[in-house]
Amino acid sequence: MSKILLVENNDKLETIYTMNLVLYLGADYITVQSFEEAVDLIAKEPLIKLIITKDVLPEQNIALNLKNYLDQVGKQELPMIILGDQHKIENLRDNHYVVESPTNIKAILKTSAEKLGITAADMAEVEMPTFYPIEIDHFLVMEKTVCDVYFERANTKGTGVRYIKRIMKDYKYPHDIIREFKEGGMTHLYILSDYRLEFINAMTNDFINVMKSKEASTIQKMAATGRVQQIFNEKFNADGFTEEAEKIAKEAIQSITALVSSSKNLKELLDNLLANQNSHMYIHCQSIAYVADKVIDNMEWGSKEQKEKLNFIIFMHDSLLENDVEAAIKSEDELNGSALDDAAKERVRSHASKIAGKFQELSHLPFGADTIIMQHHGARNGIGFNPEPPNNLSPLAIVFFVCEQFINMILESDMTKTDPQELLEKIHFRHKKKDKFTKVVECLAKVNWGY
Ligand SMILES: [Fe+2]
Ligand SMILES: [Fe+2]
Repeated sequence: MSKILLVENNDKLETIYTMNLVLYLGADYITVQSFEEAVDLIAKEPLIKLIITKDVLPEQNIALNLKNYLDQVGKQELPMIILGDQHKIENLRDNHYVVESPTNIKAILKTSAEKLGITAADMAEVEMPTFYPIEIDHFLVMEKTVCDVYFERANTKGTGVRYIKRIMKDYKYPHDIIREFKEGGMTHLYILSDYRLEFINAMTNDFINVMKSKEASTIQKMAATGRVQQIFNEKFNADGFTEEAEKIAKEAIQSITALVSSSKNLKELLDNLLANQNSHMYIHCQSIAYVADKVIDNMEWGSKEQKEKLNFIIFMHDSLLENDVEAAIKSEDELNGSALDDAAKERVRSHASKIAGKFQELSHLPFGADTIIMQHHGARNGIGFNPEPPNNLSPLAIVFFVCEQFINMILESDMTKTDPQELLEKIHFRHKKKDKFTKVVECLAKVNWGY
């Protein structure tokens, strides 16, 4: 299907044009806001059969520049609708159409239909598609997408929303734009629902490739691992431990383990994690994994098998929680004082017990993993948060509990003057009568954290 390239930097007008182009013509389009993006697309996308452009953009004669570019590259046959009378093109060609008033939608539609060969019968068959939301952060890690991507815009008139295409299938898009959207408060982008599975699978594979790539930087690998963890959580919450979810978890845990091994110390790991916008949930899991690894190294009973079990538990421990706000809650007080609704509060309160229940459905569960995860907030029954957990919890649950407490304290400290030994003394003092807890603290005290 032929496409329209729309060059327009006014959000309201952009909405009006794309809404009408879809509604009346069923036309496929892509919008850009700069000359560079426009020429990039014209060079790569043979399906673009019409350009609709503003006459001028701030600081440049966009219509004139586009005409000159088309002349230069021998694409003069590409028709262009110019919106506004400030274009300064001296010798307009037969396939240039100036619509002097940018709000003369009728003229724009009529000319577009003519140029694209859209008939009245085609117009009658236009169906409104349905869209599926994808979290915007994913697009900061991906380079290309397997289908077109839209953003949502409230209608200028009346109620409802419209979808404006901003990323084209297989086209390397600028991440700056996505970052700007995000800074403007946008949380999701949209794809056509029909492409949902294809998109999520391709996106997951992309991230897995980044995690395993020799060329990718640590920061890129972390971003990809965090995204994969989130995809896992969504799949796990929707369909449970399917074969596919299990495969994704395995890849993510491998990546977390590799990032633990490749980090010089905890400071370096946290600096890298915080250099980028990673989710709290991932920062938390990745850094607990680092600390727990050091504990097992220093425990006389520590083994490779214990590390693997613990990494599995660390990856899964908050996977039933829906977002970072829920995952950041560390005590009964924080839970009760939070702005969460009742259902979310209940989800946080019982997540340890619920995940332990889910673990029992697994056929090849690491031995005792259900008990360990049940006790990860110090409560035997997996309900709520116990600040004073007993000494007879499962030993790995105690390792997890102390490591999480240590990481929480570091993340809450003034990171420019973190003093791990001082924090460990505080933890030691809290649990001073419980030898299994103090043993973990002693293991931690032996490590050079890089601070
Ligand atoms: Fe938790
Ligand atoms: Fe946690």
